[in-house]
Amino acid sequence: ERGDYRHYMLKEIHEQPRAVADTLAERLTEDRLLAAAFGPKAEAAFENIKGVHIIACGTSYHAGLIARYQIEQLANVPVSVEIASEYRYRNPVVPKDHLFVCISQSGETADTLAALRMAKERGYRETLAICNVPESSLVREAGLTLMTRAGPEIGVASTKAFTTQLAALAMLALALGKAREQISPEQEAELVRDLRQLPAQIEAALDLDAPLKRLAELLVDNRHALFLGRGAQYPVAMEGALKLKEISYIHAEAYAAGELKHGPLALVDEHMPIIALVPDDELSEKVRSNLEEVRARGGRLIIFAAEDTGFEADEHSHVMILPRGVSKLTRPALYTIPLQLLSYHVAVLRGTDVDKPRNLAKSVTVE
Ligand code: F6R
Repeated sequence: ERGDYRHYMLKEIHEQPRAVADTLAERLTEDRLLAAAFGPKAEAAFENIKGVHIIACGTSYHAGLIARYQIEQLANVPVSVEIASEYRYRNPVVPKDHLFVCISQSGETADTLAALRMAKERGYRETLAICNVPESSLVREAGLTLMTRAGPEIGVASTKAFTTQLAALAMLALALGKAREQISPEQEAELVRDLRQLPAQIEAALDLDAPLKRLAELLVDNRHALFLGRGAQYPVAMEGALKLKEISYIHAEAYAAGELKHGPLALVDEHMPIIALVPDDELSEKVRSNLEEVRARGGRLIIFAAEDTGFEADEHSHVMILPRGVSKLTRPALYTIPLQLLSYHVAVLRGTDVDKPRNLAKSVTVE
């Protein structure tokens, strides 16, 4: 039940600390990823994996895009990520010893299920489903499974399903890194400790609710918005844009900030708000100079930046501060939270049917 929350979406946003903690529970000790996390067959299957193909739709696809950065970094293995409806209608070449991973909240998405069935015929080393519904078709048919434990998600716009997928995929990156002997026990301990902080980090980010509600008023009358990020924050920006468009019906697009000059900069004027994600990572200086170009062209900015990255609010820009020193493994989930809340408040102000946006269904069981 919705309880005191005005919408299921808001309730589900606030359930994320618990949902993520449940997804990590019993799979991690204080400082280890348990071998049993992916089931008894996983260790042998992950060893000597030479590449990973990740397939999903919508928000789940964005989770896959984020996982690519983490798996490549921790497991040092090539990863490709593709939309299920594209994958299933080309002739995907499957190199030897590749792992197929499909991600789906419902486990019933027609294209994702069809992609899994095709993959099983194509000779992957193993198939893995990351899914939120234990009795779903995807879970029944995949070789290995890792359940997210988000609990039922009622709002059509995915929130806790997404962040629990990110938690599950971070564990996959760790598992592959271990199986391929790319991470030492010391690194594993550090990464596990990082991951265990995620529920508390999300909890703290939920405190931004009140300022985000005020910020939403800046967006409510816009017809368009542009989301920018670099590195793993680029797919976070894509997810932010998807959330805004599906529940508020404002046209939103995400760009990798480095692509601005290659086209979208032409769109920038005072009617095109730019929402940018700037954590304290090796790319923050690059994003800063990308944003300078926006500012120089009169663009209005909403910046989500780590503390001490030196962004200051002025008449054209609003700055929301997130903590610094957050691990690479948890940063994407953390930066997702304010974007969910921002979209939610914009949608409420616009009076849309937040939990049931027009034209959309929760589970897409036909292609
Ligand atoms: C967006 C959203 C959809 C789903 C997509 C895949 O908020 O919820 O984009 O992510 O339809 O659904 P699942 O994950 O059930 O396969």
